[in-house]
This record gives sequence, C-alpha cells and structure tokens, in this order.
Amino acid sequence: MPNRPVLIAPSILAGDFAAFGAECRALEQAGADWIHVDVMDGHFVPNLTFGPQMCAALRPHIRGVMDVHLMIAPVDPYIEAFCKAGADHVTVHLESGPHIHRTLQAIRAQGKKAGLAINPGTGIEAVPNLLDLLDILCVMTVNPGFGGQTYIASQTAKIAALRQMTGPRPILIEIDGGITPATAPVAVRAGADVLVAGSSVFAMGSADRPEVYADNILRLRNAAQSIAV
Ligand code: DX5
Ligand code: ZN
Repeated sequence: MPNRPVLIAPSILAGDFAAFGAECRALEQAGADWIHVDVMDGHFVPNLTFGPQMCAALRPHIRGVMDVHLMIAPVDPYIEAFCKAGADHVTVHLESGPHIHRTLQAIRAQGKKAGLAINPGTGIEAVPNLLDLLDILCVMTVNPGFGGQTYIASQTAKIAALRQMTGPRPILIEIDGGITPATAPVAVRAGADVLVAGSSVFAMGSADRPEVYADNILRLRNAAQSIAV
C-alpha cells in the first residue's frame, strides 16, 4: 500500500456530452473523488470542448471538487470566468504563455487552488520558481487534446523528479492521460497522488448504470493501492 491516499478523478471528456449533469452525479455516486473537466480551445490543443458556461451549468451537479484543466492559450483573460463558474481547482499549462507566475497568482487571488500542467515534451526546470504558488502539479502522460491515448512511459521519471522537488510541501501530483489498471501502479509508485482517468472509468458504462463506473473506479483504486512503497 502507498503511504498516502490515492484520489481518482474521472474526466468527463469520455462521458456523454448530451448528459454531463447526469454523468457527474453518476460518477460521484460511483466513488469519484474529484470530477475532472477538460477545457480545450482548438488552438492550444487540436480539439474543442466547452467554456465557463458549461462549468457553471455543471456546478450544481457536483457535490465535491470540480477540477478544471484549462488547455487554452491565452489563458489569463479567462481565469476569473472559470473561478466564478465554480471551479475549485484551476490548472493551467506551463506552455500556455510567458507569464505563468502571474497566471498562478491570479488563480490564488480568486481563492482557488492553483494547478500547473506540464506537457510530455516540456522540462521541469521552471517548477522550483513556481512551487510557492502551487497546490497541484499535473503531469501530462499523453499529449493533451484527446482521450483514449496511450500512457507515455518516459513521463514516469518526471513524476518521480517532481515528487523529489516538492518534498514535504502540500502539493498534490496529478497524472493525466492513459491511466488504466496497468499504468496506475506505475504512476503511483513514482509518486502520483491523483489519477485522472477518462476511457478506463467510462468503459462499458453509462449514467444510468453507475455500478459499471463504480467497478471501473474500484479496479483503478485497487491497482493503485496494490503497490508496496
Ligand atoms: C487529455 C485530457 C485528459 C483525458 C484523459 O487532453 O486532459 O484528461 O481526458 O483521458 P484518458 O484517460 O482516456 O487518457
Ligand atoms: Zn485533463
């Protein structure tokens, strides 16, 4: 067993776009710890999803944490809108602009937890300069833009390096992309606290059969917790 709890954050990107409210309720009923909301702009990433209005519409359907992942650039003009839409966590990309320190300050200024996502091709040299502003470090284990991709194994070393870098600070390390019962233990062994999972949570399920989501979440949780640390 890892000596820290592992949280499961299903991504609604893999859900039914015509029924997100029901999907969020079903996921929480199925044991999700956070609901992960993937915002894409068709510019920073080659796909489009939705904006702050959708987050505001989802808010009443999520009792717990709404974990918003912004894959947009520029991001600064939209921080306030996503915070006002009810996000608990706002995660922005290190690659989203030249003034990431200012962006993280803006999230904290709204009273929200600030997250920093790092693409697979990006190094982590900037992270020590940002540690004081961070609540979450999100390691992208796929290139962002789409669900259903394969975990990029080279990112496991990055997870371990960030774990070392954060030391005793209360910063959660979140892993996003390609998480399955096979890859979850690898990420957790390297130091992951939070596993974002789309395809592997939604597989074969639907909002009116939350027991399937519950099985899928349990399988991930068991796999994550099976490791010896
Ligand atoms: C990728 C998104 C992820 C994605 C994960 O751009 O940030 O959150 O939905 O989906 P799976 O688990 O299918 O890789
Ligand atoms: Zn995401």
